[in-house]
Amino acid sequence: MTELVSYRLAGKIGVVTIDNPPVNAFSHAVRKGLLRRILDAGQDDAAAAILIVCAGRTFVAGADISEFDKPPEDPWLPEVLDAVEGCPKPVVTAVHGTALGGGFELVLASHYRCALNSARIGLPEVHLGLLPGAGGTQRTPRLAGAEAALELMTTGKPIGAGKALSLGLIDRVFDDELEQHALAWCEELIDNGSGPLRVSERSVPALDAAFFDGAREQLARRARGQLAPQKIVDCIEAATQMPFTEGAEFERQRFAECLGSPQSAAMRHLFFAEREAAKLKDVPKDTEARELRSVGVIGAGTMGGGIAMSCANAGIPVKLLDVDDAALERGLGVIDTNYAISVKKGRLAEDEAKRRRERIVSTTDYADLADVDLVIEAVFEDPELKKRIFAKLDSVCKAGAILATNTSYQDVDEIAAATGRPGDCLGLHFFSPANVMKLLEVVRGAKTADDVLTTAIRFAKAIRKVPVVARVCYGFIGNRMFNPYIRESQQLLLEGATPEAVDGAFYEFGMAMGPIAVSDLAGLDIGYKARMALPEDLRGSDVPFTVADRLVEQGRLGQKSGAGFYNYDPKTRRATPEPAVTAMIEEASRELGIERRSIDAAEIVERPLFALVNEGLKILEEGIAQRPGDVDIVYLYGYGFPAYRGGPLFYADSIGLDKVLSRIREFDERFGSGKPAPLLEALVAEGSSIAERFAR
Ligand code: CAA
Repeated sequence: MTELVSYRLAGKIGVVTIDNPPVNAFSHAVRKGLLRRILDAGQDDAAAAILIVCAGRTFVAGADISEFDKPPEDPWLPEVLDAVEGCPKPVVTAVHGTALGGGFELVLASHYRCALNSARIGLPEVHLGLLPGAGGTQRTPRLAGAEAALELMTTGKPIGAGKALSLGLIDRVFDDELEQHALAWCEELIDNGSGPLRVSERSVPALDAAFFDGAREQLARRARGQLAPQKIVDCIEAATQMPFTEGAEFERQRFAECLGSPQSAAMRHLFFAEREAAKLKDVPKDTEARELRSVGVIGAGTMGGGIAMSCANAGIPVKLLDVDDAALERGLGVIDTNYAISVKKGRLAEDEAKRRRERIVSTTDYADLADVDLVIEAVFEDPELKKRIFAKLDSVCKAGAILATNTSYQDVDEIAAATGRPGDCLGLHFFSPANVMKLLEVVRGAKTADDVLTTAIRFAKAIRKVPVVARVCYGFIGNRMFNPYIRESQQLLLEGATPEAVDGAFYEFGMAMGPIAVSDLAGLDIGYKARMALPEDLRGSDVPFTVADRLVEQGRLGQKSGAGFYNYDPKTRRATPEPAVTAMIEEASRELGIERRSIDAAEIVERPLFALVNEGLKILEEGIAQRPGDVDIVYLYGYGFPAYRGGPLFYADSIGLDKVLSRIREFDERFGSGKPAPLLEALVAEGSSIAERFAR
């Protein structure tokens, strides 16, 4: 077995190699191994300098996140890194791939830093509800200044080696042959008699308190409700005020607070859930994906255009098909505008935008789709039209081409049955705007072949989406759960809450948008049509939607018509309440004989949220979703659920399923909100959490 941390001499240089696949995470064994190697190398008379490198695809990608739930074991990372920095001989780190979190903190603790040009460095702990806990908050500002340090740590976004060089975080960058160049640099240091240059011994330029207060205020908006970003500011401020050792101790305490917080537990759950979601439980791991070099998209509307852009952005050529030139021109016009906006905002270089745009070619002729490897149908939700399109695709597409529908809720099996190759068919449900939203529901039909699913997952990753596999049911995972959520939120209006109170309570809970504002955004007419198309057993009573339906009759369709539950400023799209809507809601309550009452924020959140959880549990029980984490990922990336609450099912576990069950029962008795899912009752009866049950 290869040693996790090995040591060899290359001339006068002691080379320490970390080899812990897949990403060289700092597990306990790696920390122990590195500490021993660095102490030994420090004592090795044959070594005049030390080089730390990593084997495999990347430098250290951080602490081993899976160990955060276990009791801590010595040595801790700060101790290991202090030993690196304290080494009496010059220590050089050489980075390839990514040096993230604790991995980059190792780089900071070394005396000289180099990287491949293609390497990236970053401090992404904030995405795990954490802060860099091994000196990162204290050393980064000493090299790059407090402002750059703040940016790096509060966005969590990795930066390229070139940028790191310009910020002073890396000293040298090489195009290739990293280890050779790094060894040559070590020789140079030995020849020049250069000793260790310790970052902790450098000072940090002072900054006034206003800078940090401004950052706190900004983050309170940008990272609403989150603990870690605020503590990062505190730590960086401490770096400008305290000697290194005190600052490091300050950081250590803040790190421990974050690590023990429910927020970090939730975000760590999502880290692993996202990676699990891309795995197919019952498909052999060695299933070979089909070749996917080109894509056809049918329908140049908002959805089709967004899907075409997602593919083109990832380097995949697209044939975009619509019924006539006028429809194509409109669609391509929107795509052009989107690229132009990205260029104008500086998010995309002009030549890159041009290259991406040129990958999209248009056609009105199905014969042009004969050679593509995947076709995604994205026309409007008319089942008969979709079936006709699939029959047509069956006749023109080459054997082995994958045929996907972007339907949001229809029966993928019925659509697939319109072809003679249902094994090649599946659903690829994008979320709007498709070029922005990260979620992709991969809908697995009864006959979808294993290699088609494997290819779909690979495709999703290639176009930088997060895939979640769902089986066929009305609305799949996301939209099916959304139905009862929206229903309860509308019912609350009839019982006494205002749209502002409902949305305000959910905003406070951390949702990107409240359910009433979302209804306006999606279009009240769209909601109406979708409801009318629901099968009898899922549709339920129309009563909760009385007001929404009346608004549609009045032409108040939501944001797109400038007015729905709210009025919208045509320029800023800012929502303001409309007294006439309040009056309409009150009148509807009167007509329906519903007594209006004052409803507190807790109930406002619990009613729709527990309805969401309840439906999620039904979905799990029916096997529509593979695991609870998949449901959480759908809500994180598709519906703006706050990451620091871990998704609806993680949240339900965290507040206790017995509480959820008793509230659902109470709401059903008082307001007819719906019976608890049998799975919820079973879990409470056996005293187990959702996570425990599905870990088995
Ligand atoms: N700890 C444990 N496991 C990790 C890990 C980590 N830090 N980083 C990645 N992995 C695992 C993944 O779970 C995955 O496992 P499976 O194959 O079993 O699903 C495997 O490594 C490969 O990861 P990806 O699928 O994500 O591979 P990728 O090539 O797409 O991305 C990566 C690689 C950019 C390193 C990405 O995995 C990543 O961003 N990792 C997290 C980095 C991070 O957040 N580091 C900070 C940790 S906290 C810390 O370091 C605190 C501190 O100060 C001490």
